[in-house]
Amino acid sequence: MKKILSKFSLFLILQQLLNTLRQSLSMAFINGNFLGSYYWFLVRNYVSIFGNLAGSAKTKNTNLTFKLREDGFMELSKLSENGVASLIDFFLESQQEEYFSLQDYFDKQRVKNIVRSEEVDIFSNDDLRKSILSELNLLPIVSEFLGLPQNEILALGKIDALFKIKGERKLRKNYDDALEFHRDADSLRFVKVFIYLVDVNEGFGEHQIFVRSNKSLPWNLRTIGRYKYSTLKERLPFFELKKFVGKAGYSWIEDTTVFHRGTIPNSGDRLMLSLCFYDKKSAAHFHNESHHPL
Ligand SMILES: [Fe+2]
Repeated sequence: MKKILSKFSLFLILQQLLNTLRQSLSMAFINGNFLGSYYWFLVRNYVSIFGNLAGSAKTKNTNLTFKLREDGFMELSKLSENGVASLIDFFLESQQEEYFSLQDYFDKQRVKNIVRSEEVDIFSNDDLRKSILSELNLLPIVSEFLGLPQNEILALGKIDALFKIKGERKLRKNYDDALEFHRDADSLRFVKVFIYLVDVNEGFGEHQIFVRSNKSLPWNLRTIGRYKYSTLKERLPFFELKKFVGKAGYSWIEDTTVFHRGTIPNSGDRLMLSLCFYDKKSAAHFHNESHHPL
């Protein structure tokens, strides 16, 4: 049985290598960005098969991120009420339509029957970026985990919502909104921070992860794709599902090479800030989004 599984895993990995090579070559010839295509191919395959290069780096002070490296996540201090309020204001002001309140926004958006909203970039606002990074004391943690100085890190900060819809779900651009279990492969070294901007209980689109799946992963789960809960429950050596619930301001840092997903809300709506930190060396060549230095 083990032999069949290992042959099957090898087949899946070879298939991924070929598919990503084909995509990478076509990107290179269409865009002329050969270096970007090379890094994209390298990141997708290296990270999915061997893991995040962050967290494995030998750093001087390893206590600060020990739990993050071991479990794949670590709780952070809570963002203040003022911090949450200023982010909600910025999010609402960035919308094309005018809304009286966040509840008004949720109620008007849910009728579209699309679960995930468009993202709002908040790191383009220097004051917001600086105040969040300093309030949560993120820079030493991120820098240690990535094993990089601040000038070699790119960051992205965005807010989006998950709505409790009432009708039949529609997809935006045929995208599944990352609401099935998956592992990220965004750059060679990366880490993400999540902050709830409303109270999130179970049924409010809570984020879920399989604890320690960043470290201990069978070969047949290493290729990029969406995986069912039942498949992971059966194949993961340590089965521990963590559901993130908490009041507005609750925040944590996560190595998103753990299996993770958002969930489709059935009780209430979610508004969340996601901060992504990437190594400049690989990400700068192929990411199209608007990144900011720290
Ligand atoms: Fe993800």
